[in-house]
Amino acid sequence: MFAPVYLDHNATTPLDERVFAVMEPFLRDRFGNASSRHEYGRHARAAIDTARAQVADAVGAHPSEVVFTSGGSEANNLFVKGAAGSQRGGVIAIGASEHPCVREPARQLVGQGWRMLELPVMATGHLNTTASAALIAQHRPRLVSAMLANNETGALSNVMALVEPMRQAGGWLHTDAVQALGKITLDFRALGVQAMTLSSHKIGGPIGAGALVVAKRVDIAAQIAGGGHERGLRSGTENVAAIAGFGRACELASQELEARATRMQAARDRLEERLLGLGARPFGGVEPRLPNTSYFGFDNIDGETLVAKMDRAGFAIASGAACSSANPEPSRTLLAMGVEPDVARTAVRVSMGPHTSLEDVDRFAETIGAMLIELKRMAAVAV
Ligand SMILES: Cc1ncc(COP(=O)(O)O)c(C=O)c1O
Repeated sequence: MFAPVYLDHNATTPLDERVFAVMEPFLRDRFGNASSRHEYGRHARAAIDTARAQVADAVGAHPSEVVFTSGGSEANNLFVKGAAGSQRGGVIAIGASEHPCVREPARQLVGQGWRMLELPVMATGHLNTTASAALIAQHRPRLVSAMLANNETGALSNVMALVEPMRQAGGWLHTDAVQALGKITLDFRALGVQAMTLSSHKIGGPIGAGALVVAKRVDIAAQIAGGGHERGLRSGTENVAAIAGFGRACELASQELEARATRMQAARDRLEERLLGLGARPFGGVEPRLPNTSYFGFDNIDGETLVAKMDRAGFAIASGAACSSANPEPSRTLLAMGVEPDVARTAVRVSMGPHTSLEDVDRFAETIGAMLIELKRMAAVAV
C-alpha cells in the first residue's frame, strides 16, 4: 500500500470524501455545460450558484464578488494583471515574501508603465507594516498585494494595517489568502481589502479551482477573453465538478474550522517541542501564525537532503518553498527575512492537516532524530 505519512498540507491536501461525493455526479451523468438552456445545463448552473454562495459565505463576501478561476495562481494573476490592465500605469507594491504567482506577474508589468516596489518583511516573517505604510505614503502605489499567511513560515501578517494608507493613496489592496483559508477565520469585509485570492486544493477541495473575491468597484481587465463567463472577467466553460467541490470544501472548512485548527496546532506544538529538543533552528515560528506550519533547519544539514532521506523513510515533507522545490536556490522568503543563504539551505517545512495524528508526529520526530545522528556521523567521517 502507498501510504507515506503526509506532512505537506501547505503544498496540497487530500480530497475530502464528502467533497468528492458532491463532485462525482458532474463527472458522470450530470455533465452539462452551465451555459446550456436545458436540464443538464440548469443542473450545472445551479451547482455553480450553490458553490458561489458557499465560497462567499466562508469568507464574509457577497456571492456576486466571487470570480471562479482555475486556482490561486490564476486568481493572483487576474488581480495583478487585470487591475493593472485597466489603468495607465504607476507603482505596484508587493510583499517581499509573496508567492511567485504574485511576484512574476508584477515583474512582467515593469517596463509597461509600471514600477515595482517591495514591501519589507521582518526577521519573524511578518510584513513590516510600519515601513510598508511609510512606503505607501511616499510612493502612492495604484496596486498593493500583500499575503495574509505565508506558505513557508506560516506567519500571519496584519494586512489590515495597509487599508488606511491605501485608502489615502487611492489604490487597490489585494491579499493572497490561499494559506489562510480553512485555518483561520477570514472576513473579506472586516479585512477591508478590495480583492482576495483563494484556492480549493489547500482545504480538502480538488486541484484546479480557486477564486478571486473582488469588490465590484475594482475595474479588472479580463485575462481570458471569450464568451463572457464569470462577470466577463474569466471566459471559458466552467469546471463544474471542481467548482462544486470547492464550494463544499469551503462549507466544511467553515463548519469545522475550530476543531481542525485545534487538532493541527496540537500536532504542530508537539512536533516543535520535540524538534527543539533535537537542536532545530526555527525559522519564523513567532505568533501570530498559522496553526499547522513548522519551518526549521538543523545546522550544516542540507534541507533537500533531509527531505529526500525522510521521503525514503516514509514521510512526505518539503524543503524551502514547496511550490518551487524544483528550484535549488535558497528560499526567497528566508532571504527577505535576513537569513544567510547557507542557513536558508537547511530549511525544511512540515505542514499538518486536520487528520495528522500525534502518533504520526512522534514517529516523525523519532525518525528525524535517528537520521540526524546518521548524517552527523557521515559528516564526521568525511572530515
Ligand atoms: C500563498 C500561495 N498563493 C498562491 C498559491 C497558488 O495556488 P494554486 O496552487 O491554487 O495555483 C499557493 C500554492 O502553494 C500559495 O501557497
